[in-house]
Amino acid sequence: MSSPVRKLESVTELKPQPMVTIDDVTMAFGSFVAVQNVNLKVGDGEFLSIVGPTGCGKSTILNAIAGLLKPAQGKVSIDGSAVEGVQNNIGYLFQQEALLPWKTAFQNVELGLMFRRVPEDERRTKVLAWLEKVGLKGFGDRFPRQLSGGQRKRVQMAQALITEPKVILMDEPFSALDIHTRHLMQNELLRLWQEDRRAVVMITHDLEEAIALGDRVVVLAAGPKSRVIESFPVDLERPRNVAEIKLDPKFMTLYRDIWASLRGEVEKSYASR
Ligand SMILES: Nc1ncnc2c1ncn2[C@@H]1O[C@H](COP(=O)(O)OP(=O)(O)O)[C@@H](O)[C@H]1O
Ligand SMILES: [Mg+2]
Repeated sequence: MSSPVRKLESVTELKPQPMVTIDDVTMAFGSFVAVQNVNLKVGDGEFLSIVGPTGCGKSTILNAIAGLLKPAQGKVSIDGSAVEGVQNNIGYLFQQEALLPWKTAFQNVELGLMFRRVPEDERRTKVLAWLEKVGLKGFGDRFPRQLSGGQRKRVQMAQALITEPKVILMDEPFSALDIHTRHLMQNELLRLWQEDRRAVVMITHDLEEAIALGDRVVVLAAGPKSRVIESFPVDLERPRNVAEIKLDPKFMTLYRDIWASLRGEVEKSYASR
């Protein structure tokens, strides 16, 4: 028989706390206030997209979640624990080539496990499994320069996901790729994410990408003192094909609504340049 206490616990299990909480966060560089009083919650397994004009503070917010930058005010927490210093339960996917050029694909994917002192046998098994998952079976011995842009992005994805992070942070992850490779990689990412949903915070200036991938799109105001101006749930079925979903009438309606909110901010940011 379960005790009343146990019952109470199961009630809280039904309402899990957010995986990421950004509570009244202000970020400043000296006297320059980049973002002010930002409140955001990201659910476990939720894919949150954040859009906003260039320079509005998107990367700054991501760096606060990662513990790379400390808020001037407010608090960030991950899974209920305050973020203080660099976090090791996070996976990153960046626009830049983050691979070490002197290490092979295998060795690059292996890095996170090395840092965590995972035994060699287990590392090998996991790395081979992840290389296969991202479509790079047999490519483990190649160096980054011997891989295409898309293949390098696949290595980056394996690198970010192999440690099974609680939160995945993405900063314009696909913007350096040509449009076809971009669609391919976005679909690959969705496929991997769908298998084992984690909380994702993806920032992008590409509204189509934000909608096609996200469960929700948050719009940030032009900086300085950027803030959240609106949040739009993305009610599109999954699994999604990012190239095809753009033709869905629901996608187009959403695009129009969010663009109506984003447009003014983009114009403001041009005017202040
Ligand atoms: N290390 C820094 N020192 C001073 N200002 C910075 C620094 N990093 C970012 N900024 C400023 O903060 C604002 C937000 O930057 P960022 O978060 O990179 O914008 P986004 O990613 O939205 O393009 C910009 O005005 C930028 O110039
Ligand atoms: Mg940025």
